[in-house]
Amino acid sequence: MKTHPQGLLLCVLFFITFGLLHLVEAGQEGFISLDCGLSASEPPYFDSTTGLTYTTDNGFVQSGKTSRIDKEMESTYNKPILQLRYFPEGVRNCYTLNVTLGTKYLIRASFVYGNYDGLNKELEFDLYLGPNLWANVNTSMYLTNGVTTEEIIHSTKSKVLQVCLIKTGTSIPIINSLDLRPLINDTYNTQSGSLKYLFRNYFSTSRRIIRYPNDVNDRHWYPFFDEDVWTELTTNLIVNSSNVYHPPQSVMASAATPISKNAPFNFSWSLIPSTAKLYMYMHFAEIQTLQANDTRQLDVLLNGINFYTGFRPKTLATSTIFSTIPDTCEGGKCTVELLKTSKSTLPPLCSALEVFTVIDFLGLETNQDDVFAIKNIQNTYGVSKINWQGDPCVPKQFIWDGLNCNNSDISTPPIITSLDLSNNNLTGGVPEFLASIKSLLVINLSGNNLTGSVPQILLQKKGLTLNLEGNIYLNCPDGSCVHEDGNGGAKKKNVVVLVVVSIALVVVLGTALALFLVFRKRKTPHSEGPPSSSTQTQVSDARTTRSSDPIIVNKNRRFTYSEVVKMTNNFEKILGKGGFGMVYHGTVNDTEQVAVKMLSPSSSQGYKEFKAEVELLLRVHHKNLVGLVGYCDEGENLSLIYEYMANGDLKEHMLGNQGGSILDWKTRLKIVAESAQGLEYLHNGCKPPMVHRDVKTTNILLDEHFQAKLADFGLSRSFPIEGETRVDTVVAGTPGYLDPEYYRTNWLNEKSDVYSFGIVLLEIITNQPVINQSREKPHIAEWVGVMLTKGDIKSIIDPKFSGDYDAGSVWRAVELAMSCVNPSSIGRPTMSQVVIELNECLASENSRKGISQNMESKGSIRSTEVSMNFGTEYTPEAR
Ligand SMILES: *[C@@H]1O[C@H](CO)[C@@H](O)[C@H](O)[C@H]1NC(C)=O
Ligand SMILES: *[C@@H]1O[C@H](CO)[C@@H](O)[C@H](O)[C@H]1NC(C)=O
Ligand SMILES: *[C@@H]1O[C@H](CO)[C@@H](O)[C@H](O)[C@H]1NC(C)=O
Ligand SMILES: *[C@@H]1O[C@H](CO)[C@@H](O)[C@H](O)[C@H]1NC(C)=O
Ligand SMILES: *[C@@H]1O[C@H](CO)[C@@H](O)[C@H](O)[C@H]1NC(C)=O
Ligand SMILES: *[C@@H]1O[C@H](CO)[C@@H](O)[C@H](O)[C@H]1NC(C)=O
Ligand SMILES: *[C@@H]1O[C@H](CO)[C@@H](O)[C@H](O)[C@H]1NC(C)=O
Ligand SMILES: *[C@@H]1O[C@H](CO)[C@@H](O)[C@H](O)[C@H]1NC(C)=O
Ligand SMILES: *[C@@H]1O[C@H](CO)[C@@H](O)[C@H](O)[C@H]1NC(C)=O
Ligand SMILES: *[C@@H]1O[C@H](CO)[C@@H](O)[C@H](O)[C@H]1NC(C)=O
Repeated sequence: MKTHPQGLLLCVLFFITFGLLHLVEAGQEGFISLDCGLSASEPPYFDSTTGLTYTTDNGFVQSGKTSRIDKEMESTYNKPILQLRYFPEGVRNCYTLNVTLGTKYLIRASFVYGNYDGLNKELEFDLYLGPNLWANVNTSMYLTNGVTTEEIIHSTKSKVLQVCLIKTGTSIPIINSLDLRPLINDTYNTQSGSLKYLFRNYFSTSRRIIRYPNDVNDRHWYPFFDEDVWTELTTNLIVNSSNVYHPPQSVMASAATPISKNAPFNFSWSLIPSTAKLYMYMHFAEIQTLQANDTRQLDVLLNGINFYTGFRPKTLATSTIFSTIPDTCEGGKCTVELLKTSKSTLPPLCSALEVFTVIDFLGLETNQDDVFAIKNIQNTYGVSKINWQGDPCVPKQFIWDGLNCNNSDISTPPIITSLDLSNNNLTGGVPEFLASIKSLLVINLSGNNLTGSVPQILLQKKGLTLNLEGNIYLNCPDGSCVHEDGNGGAKKKNVVVLVVVSIALVVVLGTALALFLVFRKRKTPHSEGPPSSSTQTQVSDARTTRSSDPIIVNKNRRFTYSEVVKMTNNFEKILGKGGFGMVYHGTVNDTEQVAVKMLSPSSSQGYKEFKAEVELLLRVHHKNLVGLVGYCDEGENLSLIYEYMANGDLKEHMLGNQGGSILDWKTRLKIVAESAQGLEYLHNGCKPPMVHRDVKTTNILLDEHFQAKLADFGLSRSFPIEGETRVDTVVAGTPGYLDPEYYRTNWLNEKSDVYSFGIVLLEIITNQPVINQSREKPHIAEWVGVMLTKGDIKSIIDPKFSGDYDAGSVWRAVELAMSCVNPSSIGRPTMSQVVIELNECLASENSRKGISQNMESKGSIRSTEVSMNFGTEYTPEAR
């Protein structure tokens, strides 16, 4: 697995953010460690006994309630066992984990009842992996430590893994922790099926359970020793454990050998069920210093049959002997026997043994495209049906409400054939992606409150019956809300021809044309002639209309390189250095000032992001977003030409670097309120919505009238909405502003921008650096949180305001900022809420007259409320 250097840096910063200055274990890549039942607002924590970082399971499961084991038992267990999630509702409740397709994972779930409900019961329920039974879970206080653990080694067949708990009787299923560890692909191979853990022992008199970080894969090794017949060998020397199975050093540093020189080394166990097929992995190393005339050689027998013959353990190096085909044991009684060969002068030895049984997962998961589409529907409409969890079609008894599936052919994945969401109070539009469920023959959305128009693609789909009756605000084509196989013909409903629709269509087509031209031209770079007059007129046209109405952009906004040279006066004046090149001052048409961002040719990623930015800016127009005047795409010469922002960025003004006076509170508030509108437009006004991903004070630019505009969309990404899944492999953004949840889950979300915006708010309030190592808490959000808890409110406010502010509006902004930086995205407001809140702050600031003398008392009253609120969770108080 690759380690991105930037990722590492951010990782470190992330831990600083949460005050966990521990060594970051590079080996946790791909690990998912869930403390089930941990509160959603709790940040990830570092478990000092294991060195693992656990996160809440919130976001991985949609149902269930959280609880804690009985107080009296708390001393027996550690985190992550202390809390649990239980599932009183529904029969099947599932965790959904993002995984890499075709990768082998060790999956482990732990269950401790711990009398959490005070009923002193034992629980019985089932555990499924996708559509297949994995284990019958039985919690019992009589088990070792009362912890029930199920573990399996499984190769993923899709990009998501569903771990489901299923009610089988009266018990309410529970779960305390869920771990996922990627393994090396070429280990623990089977002919078919997955490996269900039976035991994993190392032979030592120690009582220590060995796990991560000693075991890079976080396998748990339990000590076992039969003192009657074995004697222990140990070494202080390093055993080279670098075969593919990588048993930990501490496992390989000890071994058991029979006391009696000629006795075999025997080890026996029972199989349940007795007919199960098994795979066995034995780990050996010669850890004794052998005399010149000594030899150790052994035969391995399983149930009296040769398994491996004439094996010589290597000196201080690990060898693993393992099954390549499954074995069985007669009557379920298995014995592995190590016998000294005739050449051997020494008895056999062994360090560790792992045994698994095979579970063949025969049930296929539902077609992945269908699953993706149906999840999309679920998210779009917020369908909250308790049984819409796990695989939509299988097993049959858990098929989602409202779906019909075809799984008649057991050798192909089940497909979804009908969807009935009639009378479900659904609101919003009819999404196009419904058409992406290829096998879907019936869609019944009647009796809802859908709006907008019906996508053409649905109307044209062959064989599809579409029922949209009873959605009174929906514009059905030709007035027909029942549609069959591309030839509708039912009742007339309200026919409203909206001009807006056709205009929107023109815009879309225009943009598509422009993009087509942009990217087609890329292939013929040196084809531009001298500047044409049409270019000039188009630019000035653009200028007159840009600030208000959206315009249809066309290829005439493209400039040649020679024009760029001319407009910048041969790159005379540098304005700054951007993410991937220099930014120069320029003039178009002798009057309009522009900022020309040149893409440096050495930048390897550049073209992709350049394309992204052109594509984006061409379709995004808002008064609070920096507008694109044009671009140049001529061979190696790529540049973006923006409107010139005469007053630089917000940060300079906060620092007083612009020579002018430091911005007062009211101006700062106005600037952030405007920036919030720009961001809100990206989230809600654009189709598809966009995440800016790099909101920060240096990306808030000010024009000559101090109107704020957001800049730098180089990192922006559209949400994957239709059909397309996008996996972000590199976490982008600026340290300090980066949403910790995004960093952790790599899950791109508009709430990540809200987090960054919260940091901007904290900056304009405090005028403090985002990260300052010499502060009690280096990260600004933590620092402000601590100050608020202490009730030390005044010390966070920028002293440069000199008391010239409405305390109410400042406190309100503080509250808003703190809710934006809530570690959990669910707790953060949306940008629409932020805009409303900031506009209200601004209004109260604007109407301020003669109340500044009241500030002290007002401030202190509010401060108590604030500190009470923020002392526990960062949630804004209700108004
Ligand atoms: C898993 O991936 C999907 C699609 O990429 C994404 O929408 C979802 O938020 C991810 N879930 C988590 C818990 O990261
Ligand atoms: C793992 O191995 C299987 C077959 O041995 C192969 O199909 C799959 O692509 C491999 N996965 C990775 C991530 O290498
Ligand atoms: C679970 O425990 C009950 C009661 O002790 C027992 O009857 C049952 O056989 C157990 N089931 C399993 C799968 O261990
Ligand atoms: C361990 O063994 C492997 C393979 O034999 C070898 O490549 C590696 O260098 C050895 N490591 C050490 C520390 O001796
Ligand atoms: C070891 O196991 C073999 C095969 O089950 C058996 O014949 C033998 O008696 C056992 N030896 C000891 C010392 O238990
Ligand atoms: C091996 O050599 C040692 C002396 O170096 C001797 O005591 C021992 O008996 C020898 N063992 C055998 C099996 O010959
Ligand atoms: C289910 O799909 C199969 C082909 O995979 C088809 O032959 C069969 O008719 C379908 N059954 C139904 C009820 O649609
Ligand atoms: C729809 O809304 C009505 C009124 O609020 C409510 O009674 C009904 O249960 C809702 N139906 C569904 C399926 O949510
Ligand atoms: C759609 O649902 C409505 C209400 O449940 C029902 O009356 C109608 O028959 C259904 N239509 C189709 C095509 O299934
Ligand atoms: C249906 O949607 C319209 C427009 O979005 C809204 O005004 C109306 O209140 C909604 N009706 C119900 C019953 O939810």
